[in-house]
Amino acid sequence: MDKERKLIIAGNWKMNKTVAEALDLVQGLKRELGSVKEVDIVVCPPFTAIAEVSKAILDSNIRLGAQSMSEHIGGAYTGEIAAGMLKEFSVRYVILGHSERRQYQGESDALIAKKALAAHAASLKPIVCVGETLNEREAGETEAVVARQLQLGLARLSKAQMEETVIAYEPVWAIGTGRNATPEQAQTVHAFIRRSLAAQFNDAVAKRVRIQYGGSVKPANARELMGQPDVDGALVGGASLEIRSFSDIVKNSI
Ligand code: 13P
Repeated sequence: MDKERKLIIAGNWKMNKTVAEALDLVQGLKRELGSVKEVDIVVCPPFTAIAEVSKAILDSNIRLGAQSMSEHIGGAYTGEIAAGMLKEFSVRYVILGHSERRQYQGESDALIAKKALAAHAASLKPIVCVGETLNEREAGETEAVVARQLQLGLARLSKAQMEETVIAYEPVWAIGTGRNATPEQAQTVHAFIRRSLAAQFNDAVAKRVRIQYGGSVKPANARELMGQPDVDGALVGGASLEIRSFSDIVKNSI
């Protein structure tokens, strides 16, 4: 598939996988995907598996991401993990503002803006998640919700930092439900996101930013979703937990 931007396909393992299971999964992914050069491949294990996964993917084409991080650089923040700690394990990406964290940890756009800046300060690339709930979609509020999340969540970034930021459009109603956005629905919102980035930053920045789609991505729908002009990759939940399904998503996207 000939794309304007290099595809980035990331697996968000969420709260799954022991260290042993994580190693099985990445060994399998190395076997299946070791020769793929056309796509940036990222795995985001739970914190407890990051050290071992980091060693296992050394000298491979698989990159490491974290699922969250603190906005602080260190100090008295019980239970939190700082960007600098992730850097020790060669983590390159960090998912910020996932809808599950917005919902269960009460993360706000203002907090996500602080975290995105802290990530860049440590040379981690944030994957900033945006997306509407079913109620918001049905009320015709999709664009207003996504526009607000972008405006506030990216408010502190410079143009140079924005170019090194990935956006993940994850409609909340499509996460873990088996109900993916149609390629047309995804493309419509992705194009809107790119227009919003052009207004907030500039055209050149907007053209370079990669926008992933997330929400029930499977081997069977990956090709059509990735075929949309403004869909530059995927953030995969459930289907990233199995060697076969995640590697087929990557292969089907090339
Ligand atoms: P599913 O692929 O399980 O729908 O999850 C999507 C997601 O939340 C990725 O961050």
